[in-house]
Amino acid sequence: MLVVGNWKMNTSHAEAIALAADVVRETEGIAGKAGVGVCPPFVWLDAVAERVRGTQVALGAQNVAAEASGAFTGETSAPMLSDLGCTYAIVGHSERRALFGETDADVAARARGAMAHGLVPIVCVGETLEERKSGDAEAVVRRQLEGSLDGLDVASDDALVIAYEPVWAIGTGETASPEQAQDMHATIRAALRQRLGDLASGVQILYGGSVKPGNAATLFAQEDVDGGLVGGASLDAAGFAAIVRAA
Ligand code: G3H
Repeated sequence: MLVVGNWKMNTSHAEAIALAADVVRETEGIAGKAGVGVCPPFVWLDAVAERVRGTQVALGAQNVAAEASGAFTGETSAPMLSDLGCTYAIVGHSERRALFGETDADVAARARGAMAHGLVPIVCVGETLEERKSGDAEAVVRRQLEGSLDGLDVASDDALVIAYEPVWAIGTGETASPEQAQDMHATIRAALRQRLGDLASGVQILYGGSVKPGNAATLFAQEDVDGGLVGGASLDAAGFAAIVRAA
């Protein structure tokens, strides 16, 4: 099990440092079974790295460049993130896809960039409300998955994490039901099996979309739900720790 907090574009410098320290304290001892990670904004990564180094809390970035270095203004490369102590990099979050035009091909390139330098990409997929209503959710997620993993050489089951985040459940307070989550996670697992064979059983598939202390346990109890990618609720250390405890 794995629970990762995505702080998105939130927190001041002081708030990020305080939140990191609180997450370390609140998850101490309970994070034995479940892995825990936080993904602060890029500008606070270094400060947060200092607080979580040597603790049970892993560090992640909210995106990563496809290229290792060069003339790519505004981008941050995997070697830079590794240098800071990052373990994870989220790629293909629906906000990146919808607001910044990142395509499956871009996501795959970023995931390859991450993996090439020892970062574990957390590859996000998920359908919109219209796609779910029109019965296309599975096809959309399968297509995103195939495109977003293109050319990725997955050597072990802990080298890749998938996050299923239905767009209609992100930041809306509306959560996929445990059955809806399980159905899609099973679909993702089957697609991974076609691609990766036996490795697919061990790849962690996280659910994201309004995960809260009150709904985490039932979601995480589903067979193919291996934890959560938590947005809003990760900004409160005690609530986030309660979600980790549920895992
Ligand atoms: O990356 C996290 C997801 O977008 C979920 O965000 O928990 O605020 O709905 P949320």
